[in-house]
Amino acid sequence: MEMIIAANWKMHKKTGDTAEFCRAILKDQQLFKGVEVLICPPYTSLPLAAEFLNDSSLKLGAQDLHWEQEGAFTGEIAGPMLADLGVEYVIIGHSERRHIIGESNNRIRSKVKAALEAGLKPILCVGETEAEREQGSANSVISEQLLAALEGLAPGDMEELVIAYEPVWAIGTGKAAQPGDADAACSFIREVLQNAAGPERAQKIRIQYGGSVKVDNIGSFVEFASIQGALVGGASMQPDSFSALIQAARKAVQN
Ligand code: 13P
Repeated sequence: MEMIIAANWKMHKKTGDTAEFCRAILKDQQLFKGVEVLICPPYTSLPLAAEFLNDSSLKLGAQDLHWEQEGAFTGEIAGPMLADLGVEYVIIGHSERRHIIGESNNRIRSKVKAALEAGLKPILCVGETEAEREQGSANSVISEQLLAALEGLAPGDMEELVIAYEPVWAIGTGKAAQPGDADAACSFIREVLQNAAGPERAQKIRIQYGGSVKVDNIGSFVEFASIQGALVGGASMQPDSFSALIQAARKAVQN
């Protein structure tokens, strides 16, 4: 299964910064062989990034979408608009949207459905808060998030998903999960997926780890068979560090 490493720029980078990043990262693309590399810029940079990445091996992702295909929703962006730009993936249910914007599991389910309807592949984010981990309820939170998002999906559609395990306390803190804990959580996610989609289909779903991933620790995550890539925030902002991180991941898997 091809590893997938995604850059989530969150609310960073204007068009000039996007152009600069794309120019630089494209020079290294031959060093990323065997890794699916994905850039998720803010909406305002998607058309420009699409132009740069067109004809490259790098893919484009969006950070969110609306749950309807079109309509009177001022300020929102619908899946077909993203697909029209050449966007292939869309992040759904990121913890910043769950916890800052207040998105519910039901809302996230409707977005997963909308993405699939628009022909986009959802990167569904799940993960527990620090308090939930301390209370010993991490697994129940994760399975609730997963099962709520998958409810009503045809098992065939589930194969299109990527799951990002992002423990909330590890995001942007410099305090990554212990690799063994990430392995345990991702293995648990696989079990939930197997029950929901059947073992064969679940095998096709890639699971990423996210939360303070850096060039120095990426190898310790992807060397576990349970983890097929990473969702990267801070370390994806500079082309040099992102490129080094992808190469380190590739090396770790080859070893
Ligand atoms: P950091 O890599 O900055 O911790 O962010 C992780 C993240 O939220 C990616 O979606």
